[in-house]
Amino acid sequence: MSAPNNQAAWLHQSNTALEVGDAPMPVAGVGELVIKNAAIAINPLDCHMQDSGVFIQQWPAIFGCDVAGEVYDVGPSVENFKKGDRVIGHAINLSSGRPQDGAFALYTVVPAEKAAILPDTIAFTDGVVVPFALEAAICALSLKVPGVAMPGVATPALGLPYPSLQQAPPSGKTLVVYGGSSSVGSMATQLATAAGLRVVSVAGKHNLAFSKSCGATDVFDHKDPLVANKVIEAVGQSSFIGIFDAIATPETYSHDLVILDKLGGGQLACVHPPPADVPANVTAGMIWGINDVATPVWRDYVTPALESGKLQCLPRPTIVGKGLESINEALKRSKAGVSATKLVIEL
Ligand SMILES: NC(=O)c1ccc[n+]([C@@H]2O[C@H](COP(=O)([O-])OP(=O)(O)OC[C@H]3O[C@@H](n4cnc5c(N)ncnc54)[C@H](OP(=O)(O)O)[C@@H]3O)[C@@H](O)[C@H]2O)c1
Repeated sequence: MSAPNNQAAWLHQSNTALEVGDAPMPVAGVGELVIKNAAIAINPLDCHMQDSGVFIQQWPAIFGCDVAGEVYDVGPSVENFKKGDRVIGHAINLSSGRPQDGAFALYTVVPAEKAAILPDTIAFTDGVVVPFALEAAICALSLKVPGVAMPGVATPALGLPYPSLQQAPPSGKTLVVYGGSSSVGSMATQLATAAGLRVVSVAGKHNLAFSKSCGATDVFDHKDPLVANKVIEAVGQSSFIGIFDAIATPETYSHDLVILDKLGGGQLACVHPPPADVPANVTAGMIWGINDVATPVWRDYVTPALESGKLQCLPRPTIVGKGLESINEALKRSKAGVSATKLVIEL
């Protein structure tokens, strides 16, 4: 049987629309899967890559991080997947630079250790919200030793436990998640609470209940002028780990530093480079959302946790359209801003 035709949404030049065209049919190398994509998701990173060409290593480029679909090809040394399996996967063009590792295509290569079986009861358009957010959240929570996020910027190393399929005993420790309704912040909330941590979060007023549904015990409106004081009060006398700032803007940093000051310092894990001068009692870093630290979570946690409902496909998807042609519209909508949702395209 002849190989199917692949197509991709190519970026030929920064700050231009993606153009749908033919693409080479990928072949699964050692430890890899080729996924026939049924759904792909949009991340803010994709908007930065389109607008400025940042992180693009090979032109023309195919990028995008989140895929859900069926395994089409299984590479050597892959034992836990077979052709036809329904999966979600994290496509790693961001680090590899290879076009075949970009999600914005009909077929994408994904490392088998960054994929998991998607239970039959979960739609591809739901499951696809998970991969990049999950790996970014684990990078924020569970690295034990600081690495390098970018030249001169260390990764955080909070060394927190992985999420558990069982009811994790309460650790007595509290983590503040700034951006509890964002894709990465809500996933970090789910995973941290499944590891036995208490989460206090900051989200939009209309998303307080949403962040609680992810596991936060106390949620405060980010527009409330007293938000930092309220977070400090909610952390109270519990053992304070620090803050995962999933928004990372000058405004959120100013609140982070007030909270850390009043609570005696701690960790500040950010999704962008942290503030330049942090006090000596604060250890700050920027996550880099691709790391082997996530491998045990992909391998042992994701599928059973999705099956049991312990891991929820949140935030809920907003389906923008069908076909690779819809990616340009989805990128536009992402740039306009989203609230507690992930933009998804069906293929
Ligand atoms: N370094 C890395 O490896 C890495 C990995 C992944 C993502 N990122 C970065 O992380 C950021 C978040 O990504 P994402 O996909 O999670 O974003 P997202 O879901 O698109 O973010 C939208 C959310 O941000 C919330 N938000 C905006 N301003 C806020 C504020 N001042 N306080 C609290 N919440 C606020 C909104 O909350 P409300 O609607 O409730 O107001 C909204 O729900 C992006 O900048 C992305 O580029 C970095």
